[in-house]
Amino acid sequence: MEEVKVSVMRFIPSEDEQPRYETYSITPKDNMTVLDTLFLIVEDQDPSLSFRCACRLGMCGTCGMMINGRGRLACRTKVEELGDEILVEPMRSFPVIKDVAVDMEPFFDSWKKVKPYFVPKEDTDEFAIIPKHAKSREVIDNNSDCITCGLCYQSCDAVSIRDGEYMGPAALSRAHNLIADERDGARSERLDMVTGEEGVFECHSFGACLEVCPKGINPMETIQKIKTKKLKKTVGLKW
Ligand code: FES
Repeated sequence: MEEVKVSVMRFIPSEDEQPRYETYSITPKDNMTVLDTLFLIVEDQDPSLSFRCACRLGMCGTCGMMINGRGRLACRTKVEELGDEILVEPMRSFPVIKDVAVDMEPFFDSWKKVKPYFVPKEDTDEFAIIPKHAKSREVIDNNSDCITCGLCYQSCDAVSIRDGEYMGPAALSRAHNLIADERDGARSERLDMVTGEEGVFECHSFGACLEVCPKGINPMETIQKIKTKKLKKTVGLKW
């Protein structure tokens, strides 16, 4: 490709009535990512463009955006996979701060609701020892790769239908990590929290979360596991 047209949503909520789109032409280089194109635009064409990023390695989770209609990490999305027209928009379900930079507060508010930290049992004298091949370790390993990018949250129709009054896939996945950990002293309380209002029973298994997760995590499956644990707990079975 000799030239790629990158259309980016521009919007300053305190000044603009409506978002608008600006299109920039760039000459792509080998292995260029969408994040590289945004930097190129800022350096050569329009320094006022705003977006979020930090690591540029797919690790920090800050560069989530809608790219050609799908939630993706800009630093992990190659231009050559997208063709010669690229549309960049902010993630859904988040307030826009400026252009494609969004305020992640709704996501982290949900995260806080699930008590996302380990609570040691009172009789725990050693901290965080997990035997190498323990079953509980296998259960949580994949979910522990979450980079809190918010892509699952923004893609979730249950989040948008309930206007944020649903904890969303990432927070529930995080809760499951702790519920599945038998050393955690708050797992019973946590299970009740995430199976109440705004919790797992709001999930309609649309599956968008697992399609967009850049780490290959399957929050929908995890949410089903939480539902099963709750049912077992309710009828008095070991969970
Ligand atoms: S910049 Fe860190 S994940 Fe993309």
